[in-house]
Amino acid sequence: MVDLEPTQFRARLDDALAVYVTAMGYPRGTEYHRAPMWTEHMTRPGWRAVGALETTNDSPGRLVGVAYGYTGSARQWWHQQVRTGMRHSGWHHDDIDAVLGDYFELTELHVLPTAQGHGLGEALLRRLLRGRTERRVLLSTPEVADEDNRAWHLYRRLGFDDVLRRFRFTGDSRPFAVLGRSLPVPDRVSPLA
Ligand SMILES: CC(C)(COP(=O)(O)OP(=O)(O)OC[C@H]1O[C@@H](n2cnc3c(N)ncnc32)[C@H](O)[C@@H]1OP(=O)(O)O)[C@@H](O)C(=O)NCCC(=O)NCCS
Repeated sequence: MVDLEPTQFRARLDDALAVYVTAMGYPRGTEYHRAPMWTEHMTRPGWRAVGALETTNDSPGRLVGVAYGYTGSARQWWHQQVRTGMRHSGWHHDDIDAVLGDYFELTELHVLPTAQGHGLGEALLRRLLRGRTERRVLLSTPEVADEDNRAWHLYRRLGFDDVLRRFRFTGDSRPFAVLGRSLPVPDRVSPLA
């Protein structure tokens, strides 16, 4: 598990995008659209990235997991979408300001399918959030039946609550959940916390 400084992240960008496309099951070629966006994200205040490396005799340090995020801001498209969604779903404006006033956006978190199921996702997320100064962490994840995939299990296990459900971002027909929790994340999280 390593921190990826900007130069290291840039050097591993193709590998990180390959992890993302494979983990999400997206069609090949998606990475070409994402590369400029991920590069732009690196310029945002509070950007931080972590990686999981697998070292074998054949490959010293193959990237098998990656996560990054940055400090949320009202100037960002994601923030504006979530704010609009919260307003439409009946959140009081004071509560919207409280939730969106000071947060870290978990933008990407992916582990290669062959490396999943061993706690790497949780370790990446915990490392990424360690020492953050924001009051909350927020993320969006696709809705799945019965919240039954590894991403949902992980977020619920770490105490993430609903902010929005079945929300549709402009330009994407899939329903998403926006989830959040306060920071810091304790070492052990009670399922009832
Ligand atoms: C979501 C994702 C990053 C989680 O990574 P992961 O390494 O599979 O997840 P975890 O760290 O939660 O570990 C997975 C399982 O291993 C178990 N586990 C945890 N620590 C373990 C350990 N030390 N040894 C063995 N198993 C362990 C967990 O209980 C967990 O079980 P569960 O999924 O049934 O709850 C990964 O599954 C992924 O890339 N999914 C596809 C892409 C995606 O959905 N990304 C998020 C989009 S928002």
